[in-house]
Amino acid sequence: MLNIALPKGRLGEKVYEMFEAAGYDCPAIKEINRKLVFENEEKGIRFFWVKPSDVSIYVERGAADIGVAGKDILLEYKPNVYELLDLNIGKCRMCVAAKKEFDDRDVSVLKVATKFTSIASDYYAKQGRDIDIIKLNGSIELAPILGLSDVIVDIVETGSTLKENNLEVKATILPISARLIANKVSFKFKGKQIEKIADAMKEQVKNDD
Ligand code: PRP
Repeated sequence: MLNIALPKGRLGEKVYEMFEAAGYDCPAIKEINRKLVFENEEKGIRFFWVKPSDVSIYVERGAADIGVAGKDILLEYKPNVYELLDLNIGKCRMCVAAKKEFDDRDVSVLKVATKFTSIASDYYAKQGRDIDIIKLNGSIELAPILGLSDVIVDIVETGSTLKENNLEVKATILPISARLIANKVSFKFKGKQIEKIADAMKEQVKNDD
């Protein structure tokens, strides 16, 4: 059995649909709600749902042979895995945002609130900027509103969360999308099967026109 970690939620559903279209289906996955593991014995695959930010942990440690993780998670945690394919879904951007009137030249040490402390630190280190990093776990947009931070480093998809909270993008750090990843040992021993799946998935990738 080849173990495949899918990210739970809306992105995971899209990812599963790509696997299905690529010939790796498991129909029960659409019908049963709280079950976490689904097998297709004939195809030799087993899907399981995990929290999106945990996919790379399962894959790095070999509990999953392959999986799908956001580039944000791969850059933040730098798991020791192979990145096989950009699926071109789950697209968004990692951005610096702040109140419209905020100008970062007004402060010497910039207070930065974020879930992505490593991405934020790398970004400001490259600019030689001193920052005070504040690690939060969600609702990051609150931080500048309440004066906890000057700016945030966070994911922007539609931009509506920023807009509704009177914040705006000050800089784009990098574009994000979902990636097919593989465990390095699995790739050595189950390489043929993994490459076959990756090739079939590649045919399902829709390019931007
Ligand atoms: C993410 C991100 C933003 C929001 C951006 O939050 O942290 O808050 O989505 O999306 P938008 O540009 O389409 O409005 P998520 O829903 O993952 O929840 P969180 O508050 O737990 O980070």
